[in-house]
Amino acid sequence: MIRFRPLEESDLPQVDAWLRAEHVAEWWRDPVEIAVAKRQAALEGRRQVEHYVILENERPLGIIQTYLVADYPDWGRLIGAEPEAAGVDLFVGEPDAVGRGLGPEILREFARTVVFSRPETTAAVATVEEANIRSWRAFEKAGFRHVRDVEEDGLPHRLLRLDRRYAQ
Ligand SMILES: CC(C)(COP(=O)(O)OP(=O)(O)OC[C@H]1O[C@@H](n2cnc3c(N)ncnc32)[C@H](O)[C@@H]1OP(=O)(O)O)[C@@H](O)C(=O)NCCC(=O)NCCS
Repeated sequence: MIRFRPLEESDLPQVDAWLRAEHVAEWWRDPVEIAVAKRQAALEGRRQVEHYVILENERPLGIIQTYLVADYPDWGRLIGAEPEAAGVDLFVGEPDAVGRGLGPEILREFARTVVFSRPETTAAVATVEEANIRSWRAFEKAGFRHVRDVEEDGLPHRLLRLDRRYAQ
């Protein structure tokens, strides 16, 4: 069973270790120190992002986050999304848990139980590097549609979107 619990300060050493795992470092563009500092800032209320730990049968596997496009207007303009849409990012940090089909299940469950639990949220959106096939396939298998291509940080990305009416 997949569920999510809010990230806590005591999770940060584990997050640091996950970010250093080869399969995460390959795709996570923030340097480890910055990625950890961003989560620390969110825990202290200095960043408007909700962070969660992904649990499979209570075992922590990685982290997932969501934020309102309204709080990140430059990104909203870049991807052409409305302020009521919510961004989603994740990584599965435990090496033995990737490539087993868990990603789509995590994304489907997160959309249903977290993102769309806020009644005004219209859609879940994510930008995924074109080269990260495993990631955008996982989003597609969770029901996200590839709506257009966007350039982010100088790299080609796919914009993936799940509208509320298609979330199960
Ligand atoms: C991205 C991630 C969440 C996907 O979850 P996952 O459980 O590993 O994904 P799945 O096992 O469901 O695989 C998804 C699809 O990619 C395919 N796939 C798996 N490994 C692949 C690889 N190395 N290359 C290409 N496709 C691959 C799978 O076959 C599946 O597609 P299919 O059903 O059409 O065959 C997870 O791999 C992860 O966290 N990776 C590290 C960090 C990362 O990339 N985060 C996302 C940043 S946007």
